[in-house]
Amino acid sequence: MCGITAHVAESDSLRSLLTCLQNLEYRGYDSAGLALLNGSEVRVTKSAGEVESLKQRVTNGDLEGEIGIGHTRWSTHGPPTDENAHPHTDCTGKIAIVHNGIIENHDQLRESLQARGHTFTSDTDTEVVPHMIEELLGQCESTAAAFRSAVDKLEGSYAVAMVVEGDHRVYASRSGSPLVLGLGEDSQYLASDVPAFLEFTNQVIYLQDGDVVVLSPDGYRITDLDGRPLERTVETMSWSPEDAQKRGHDHFMSKEIHEQPTAIRQAIEGRIDGDDVTLEEFPPGSFADVEAVQFVACGTSYHAGLYCEQLLGEWGVPVSTHFASEYAVSSPPVDGNTLVVGVTQSGETADTLEALRVASEQGARTLAVTNVVGSSAARKCDDALFIRAGPEIGVAATKTFSSQVTTLTLLGERLARDVTGSPTEGHESRLSALQSLPEQVESVLAASDAEQLAHRYRDSRSHFFIGRGPSFGVAREGALKFKEITYEHAEGFPAGELKHGPLALVTADTTVFAVCSGREESKLVSNVREVQTRDGPVVAVAPRSASSLLEVADDTLTVPATHPDLVPVLANVQLQLLSYHSAVALGRSVDKPRNLAKSVTVE
Ligand code: M6R
Repeated sequence: MCGITAHVAESDSLRSLLTCLQNLEYRGYDSAGLALLNGSEVRVTKSAGEVESLKQRVTNGDLEGEIGIGHTRWSTHGPPTDENAHPHTDCTGKIAIVHNGIIENHDQLRESLQARGHTFTSDTDTEVVPHMIEELLGQCESTAAAFRSAVDKLEGSYAVAMVVEGDHRVYASRSGSPLVLGLGEDSQYLASDVPAFLEFTNQVIYLQDGDVVVLSPDGYRITDLDGRPLERTVETMSWSPEDAQKRGHDHFMSKEIHEQPTAIRQAIEGRIDGDDVTLEEFPPGSFADVEAVQFVACGTSYHAGLYCEQLLGEWGVPVSTHFASEYAVSSPPVDGNTLVVGVTQSGETADTLEALRVASEQGARTLAVTNVVGSSAARKCDDALFIRAGPEIGVAATKTFSSQVTTLTLLGERLARDVTGSPTEGHESRLSALQSLPEQVESVLAASDAEQLAHRYRDSRSHFFIGRGPSFGVAREGALKFKEITYEHAEGFPAGELKHGPLALVTADTTVFAVCSGREESKLVSNVREVQTRDGPVVAVAPRSASSLLEVADDTLTVPATHPDLVPVLANVQLQLLSYHSAVALGRSVDKPRNLAKSVTVE
């Protein structure tokens, strides 16, 4: 949802800024731009389109500078045009700003600035900031004071970075939108996310809301909004630069689908001891007071919640799953014995953060299940549990779904033991199956027929995904992945709901993917027949043991036998491959689907 970056060095910053921008493109790719301090002059270049088109504009050798800021945009205020691309400047063109987030009071600020004679050149909320600073520079004792004073007046969420003509510094601050400082040997970086600069440094400082940082060639200084110095911890990222590269795959999505065995292994590592779950963060008894669990999440993370809600419910834990965006509007009752679990890969999704804030305000205990150490969710919740998937760059979430389900299954075992006083039924076989899951994902990846089926069904007008129990979560996830990257119509239903309405849409042009864990087979067979009676082709996604379903289906995507609670994870891998190959066959922009961004930091 927009990526911002900055680089301060002794040598030219242009290449580093372009690299950071390209690494941040998964956050938005409507337009891109940068501002470089060239000697004492600020030079801004920006254009609609992806970073590649910006690159073509600036690599002719006449733009250079040691200090710069950059931006890649996901449009909120104003269409993706050259004018609306960042950086934005003041009336004099001497102050350039990049911004991620939404400035809610921009209308009032713009009106009063215009009344005082400022001329605006874009439709963006961001443009108020350079004009405010233009005024404040004349009123404050220093540029840092003017910058602090301006950001203090902003309402909403922001991560902003600024360069000013004649001043060899970058000024930046955050509130509600992520901003990370990267400390290299002889240069410093700022970015919305660590993968932006991971190939240059793994030493990072996660800035906190209200932090103001000033970067200069000599170092950095962090203060609060009143200018009082702050100490922040430098962390060493365990992610390697290669983790954020394609490693021979055509797309990040393909690479990340194939990384799932590793991701699952990492999620499990050190967390299972025989038939016991050993979560370092949560020793036995950690959840003794918990009476109810609520998952709050969006998109794929919501589907991981739906999946695990089924498991926890069966294990005797009162549990519900909520769209984070709805939770904030009408939250269910909570008290001090309610554990509200924010499931969020990025840890920065605004809707999820808001739901967690509402839950916390009402007295619930909050827990972030996230991939990003240092993310807002991890920092703001009472506790955090990390899914350890490594960086995920493709906008379509893939490996993080598997890591979320694995981690939530382990968390669920711990919760069930604390809440009910005894281990879950069949936990020994489930935990053992969890440890074999990486090899089973490997075998799905090695022998999938998904590419063939993607071609066979590529002309379908609609794609329905159905399932029961935990397979319903995967049916929803299969549909989300499919529509997200193919731009084709796809919907996920509980299998039993088909006959209550959606069946009216089924024709020979509607391909139905029936996801089966093996448990709910006979009812699913009836649903499949209902579809086939209306000429709809059915692809069964099921373990080989589900013979009656496999026999009745028109086509099959099979998965190895495992514990029924985990079969849907394997089925999901097949559906990821199906979506991926369908999108490739249709010539879609797999890693950067239209209108979407990886991390949605606005509500
Ligand atoms: O970072 P989060 O897990 O909070 O993100 C939630 C959704 O925005 C995300 O899962 C989105 O639905 C994915 N692009 C789906 O592939």
